[in-house]
Amino acid sequence: MTTKSIYILSIESSCDDTAAAILQNDTVLSNVIANQKIHAAYGGVVPELASREHQKNIVPVVQQALKQAGIDKKELHAIAFTKGPGLMGSLLVGVSFSKSLSIALGIPLIAVNHMQAHVLAHFINDDNQNIPQFPFLCLTISGGHTQILKVMSYNNFEILGETIDDAVGEAFDKSAKLLGLSYPGGPLIDKHAKKGNKNAFQFTKPKTKNELDFSFSGLKTAILYFLQKKVKNNPNFIKENLNDICASIQNTIVEILMHKLQLASKKTGIKHIAIAGGVSANSEIRKTLKTFENTLGWKTYIPKFEYTTDNAAMIGIVGYYKFLDKQFEDMSVSANARMKI
Ligand code: KG4
Ligand code: ZN
Repeated sequence: MTTKSIYILSIESSCDDTAAAILQNDTVLSNVIANQKIHAAYGGVVPELASREHQKNIVPVVQQALKQAGIDKKELHAIAFTKGPGLMGSLLVGVSFSKSLSIALGIPLIAVNHMQAHVLAHFINDDNQNIPQFPFLCLTISGGHTQILKVMSYNNFEILGETIDDAVGEAFDKSAKLLGLSYPGGPLIDKHAKKGNKNAFQFTKPKTKNELDFSFSGLKTAILYFLQKKVKNNPNFIKENLNDICASIQNTIVEILMHKLQLASKKTGIKHIAIAGGVSANSEIRKTLKTFENTLGWKTYIPKFEYTTDNAAMIGIVGYYKFLDKQFEDMSVSANARMKI
């Protein structure tokens, strides 16, 4: 066990957040995020615009992360960056920046899988007494991914099920768009749902060949047809029923997720259950999962709010474990938009 402090700068630029963090071993000293507001007007992330925004943001974001941590760049031991999965143009900004800085400072470069980072966010040492025990199941739910993972160790994962079409975050965001809500719509659906009746409307749940896989594209179409029919009879239907519609959509999505998670737990016999990714910020998912501690005897792990949506601290924690294993890259490393876990 080393007693020396390792300082790692981590960079996240896989989608529409430019983020940088400084970790001292497994502790976060700073965690800076520049959200790109520009996409709201388009109802979704525009890849070319995202890449340009990353180029504008990356230097100030890194400078702020160093300043907040009170660390000079010469004190850094390594740079960790998101290699994938994500948008190619966005990833390349982080990769190029990290490579240049690692050459300039003469320190190693660490490539990180974004999805592994969402899972390992649970291991950030933040007065966190609730750190998962291996093996555990992790429901990883974000704007780009929906997976149930069996996590055997820091770097040993098995995918038990995943989406065959849309990610659950997309289901939230696309439903929100149909309701005229701005992007990203997930948090807005969550907000309106709190004031609505979750049993007001019923939507059919899709079936998949592998019972642990997910499918959300059919749900989006069902919601579209439902709204078209209702609005035809009453043009103010959405406005008058917004809270109930949001609560019903959210309830359908949460029931799908929880049903699959229960199946996975039954199949594997694992009762240590974690959630990760942007959608795990959802209040109904958090609440429902907690009730399973009593009803199903689960031990659940819910990440701190700031480590659920995209951030660089989670890239830094993977960077730290890879640093200990000396898993460094040479300068031929590049981004991989479809990187697998
Ligand atoms: O992990 P993340 O920040 O980025 C990706 O890697 O995709 O996840 C973003 C997704 C978006 O789809 C957003 O709508 C969703 O997370 N999200 C939520 C909530 N907060 C964020 N979905 C439902 N309820 C929320 N409270
Ligand atoms: Zn993410």
